[in-house]
Amino acid sequence: MKTRIYDLTLSDGYCNAIQDAAQTIKDGGLVVFPTETVYGLGANALDEKAVSGIFMAKGRPSDNPLIVHVADVSMIAMLADLSEPQAKAVVDTFMPGPITIVLKKNNLVPYTVTAGLETVAIRMPNEKYALDLIRKCQLPIAAPSANISGKPSPTRPEHVLQDMDGKADVILLGENCLYGIESTVLDCTVHPARILRPGAITQEQLAGVIELALSENVSDSDKPKSPGMKYNHYKPNAAVIAVKGNDADVIDYINRAACESSGSAVLGFSELKDAFTVSHFFSLGNKELPQESARVLFAYFRECDRLGVETIYVMCTENEGIGRAYLNRLLKAADQVIEL
Ligand code: TXA
Ligand code: MG
Repeated sequence: MKTRIYDLTLSDGYCNAIQDAAQTIKDGGLVVFPTETVYGLGANALDEKAVSGIFMAKGRPSDNPLIVHVADVSMIAMLADLSEPQAKAVVDTFMPGPITIVLKKNNLVPYTVTAGLETVAIRMPNEKYALDLIRKCQLPIAAPSANISGKPSPTRPEHVLQDMDGKADVILLGENCLYGIESTVLDCTVHPARILRPGAITQEQLAGVIELALSENVSDSDKPKSPGMKYNHYKPNAAVIAVKGNDADVIDYINRAACESSGSAVLGFSELKDAFTVSHFFSLGNKELPQESARVLFAYFRECDRLGVETIYVMCTENEGIGRAYLNRLLKAADQVIEL
C-alpha cells in the first residue's frame, strides 16, 4: 500500500490533509493521527470491515477491544449509556483529556470494536489535529495505539513512520506527543468505578471527583476486565531491566552490571547523570517530575533499538501520581525487575 503522508505542523496544506484523512475514514480506510497521549491508528468505528483492517495492520489479537474517539459529549451519548452520575462527573471534569471511560454500549457499536464485550471504551482527545479529523468526518473513530502489536506505542512522528508506513492509507504527522503514554482507562460500568490502566489522569485526581475501587492485579489466568492488559506490551528488541532501590544502590548495581555486558544503556534521572559510567545515558528528567519520565520512556526504547543497544537498565519512579502509569508501562516491558 502506498501511504499518503502529511505533516500537519506545516502551515501549508493543513485543510487538504484533514480533508483527505476524513474522506479516507468515511471510505473505510485507515488513518494514523496524533493525540496528546500517543499516535492512534484509526478507522470508522461504525464500519466493521474498516475496523477489521486495524487488527490486520497491527497484528493485534481480535479479543483486545479498541477505544472509540469522539469530539464531543453528544457523540458519547450516541454510542453508550451516559446516564451514570459517576461517568458524567468524569466527562465533565476530565474530557477532553488523556482519559478513556468504559460504558455500556448501545447497538450502534459493532462487536468487532468491543471484541464481543457489551461495553465500549470512549475517549475525547485534547488535541486539535485529532478533534479536527473527527469533526470533519463526523464519525466516531476506533483507534488503538499506532504501533505493531507488542511494540512501544509511537509518540514521535519518526516512530509512526517506522511502524505504519505502507500499512495505513494516510498518516498525519504532528508534534511529539505531550504525555507520551496511553490514556487512563476507567471502568464506569461498576460501582465504584475502577482504573483498568493507569495514565496521565491520576488515581489521586479521579478520587477527588468520584469514588474509586482499588485496582486488582490482572494475571493471565483471570478473565481480565481490560483484555489488553494481559498481553506482552511495549517491548523494544533490547532486554529491559527495571532496577528499584535507593539511588546509590541502583547506580552501583547498574554500573557493575553494565560493564559486564556490552551494548548497554541506562535510563536514569537527570540529577544522577554524572554518577553513571555507562556509555549511553538517557535522561528521564528530574525524579520529582515523573510526567517527564512517562513522556520519554517509549521514545527511548525505540531510540535504544535504533542504536542497537542490547540491554536497557531503567530507574523507577515513586508509585504515585503519573509515576504509577510510568511504572505500569516499565514493568510490563521489563524482562527482569531487580529489587535492591
Ligand atoms: O491514549 C490512548 O488511549 C491511545 C490513543 C490512540 O487514544 N489508545 C490506546 O489504545 O492506547 P490501545 O488499543 O492501545 O489500548 C486500549 C486499552 C486496551 O488495554 C484495551 O483492552 C482496553 O483499552 N479496552 C478497550 N475497550 C475496552 C472495554 N470495553 N472494556 C475494558 N477495556 C477495554
Ligand atoms: Mg496499545
